[in-house]
Amino acid sequence: MSSHSKAPVVPSNPFIEQEFGSVEGLLEFCHRLPKLELHAHVNGSIPPEALRQLAEKRASETVDKGEAAKGALSVLDAIAWKSEFDIKDFFPLFKHIYGLTNDPESLTFVMHSVITDFENDGVRYIELRSTPRDDPSTGLTKESYIQSLLSAISTSPAKNISVKLIVSIDRRHTPEVAQHIVDLAIKYRDQGVVGIDLCGDPYAGDFDAGPKDAIVRAKAAGLKVTLHLAEIQNRDEENRSMLSVFPDRLGHATYMSDDVRDKVYKDGIPIEMCMTSNVLSRTVESYEVHHIKQALEENHPSVLCTDDKGIISSPLSYEYALAASTFSMTKRLLYDLSRRSINAIFADDIEKARLADLWQAWADREFSRATNS
Ligand code: IMP
Ligand code: ZN
Repeated sequence: MSSHSKAPVVPSNPFIEQEFGSVEGLLEFCHRLPKLELHAHVNGSIPPEALRQLAEKRASETVDKGEAAKGALSVLDAIAWKSEFDIKDFFPLFKHIYGLTNDPESLTFVMHSVITDFENDGVRYIELRSTPRDDPSTGLTKESYIQSLLSAISTSPAKNISVKLIVSIDRRHTPEVAQHIVDLAIKYRDQGVVGIDLCGDPYAGDFDAGPKDAIVRAKAAGLKVTLHLAEIQNRDEENRSMLSVFPDRLGHATYMSDDVRDKVYKDGIPIEMCMTSNVLSRTVESYEVHHIKQALEENHPSVLCTDDKGIISSPLSYEYALAASTFSMTKRLLYDLSRRSINAIFADDIEKARLADLWQAWADREFSRATNS
């Protein structure tokens, strides 16, 4: 098997050289910058090394399990040789990962790996999202899935990162399953669940006939809601229907018609921007034309995020570096982008104030150092 593909190349240019000295200087700054991650799918964020360890452990066990291991190794292969995915090839990859992350022990291992990985990249607050699953072969239920993730958050050895959970509904879920997931999110909201997400293959499912009622109920119960919206073209009716449930944030929001964009901008609904994920899955042609450009120009709340960093190999610090390189963003602008993301978190005002203090202390050190040197 070839070695795992590396993070995307951050190109240099005269602006980067002037502001950061070099690409290395830029990457070092972006690594040090305190960051928030608000759009990361647990099973898409598993560091490849952790996935490999899980696969090897499974392969050494008895019963099934060689099969699950083979599946996961084929994902690692796909990750290793592909530099881009058509979005239609992308979703089937997850079923192989699911064969490995299907009991409390493996879910704990995965969560610990994911959290530590983000912490090591300078992420200080994260809302991880995940879709609860049943697995009759291990007795896993949607409820024990959520319990496993929450308990892994509380036992995580990472101490410099605050972790919350968003529970995902998949577009393929029936209305009944969506309602069950909302029940569970409500039940566990005092233990770290902060909201509901709607995700999954954007070509599948139907918002109105599927999860809409459950999401309306989640909002009425006071949960925050984020929706993957307009990831692909020609979904204008669905996008309008999604906005009618008053989402608190949107994922991607790539292909918005003028009226949809006007509403999103007028209402100031923050957008979770996943540049590398969009470019690699070819829903956006290049970084240069990514819709974050317009959002930044119009000062629309935008949060840089990774989406599936285990698969696309781009840590959040690289997303900041790519934004700097593509849109000529200074250190101060990168800091402001990260700092303003605090307004978009789903946790309460106490957490927002705590993070604001943390960010301010970092800026005081960083920018006074720059002035003094
Ligand atoms: P999980 O929810 O932790 O199992 O993470 C993997 C799941 O996230 C996938 O099966 C998809 O349903 C969802 N997902 C990951 N990336 C995307 C995306 O770019 N668009 C929509 N859904 C996604
Ligand atoms: Zn996503």
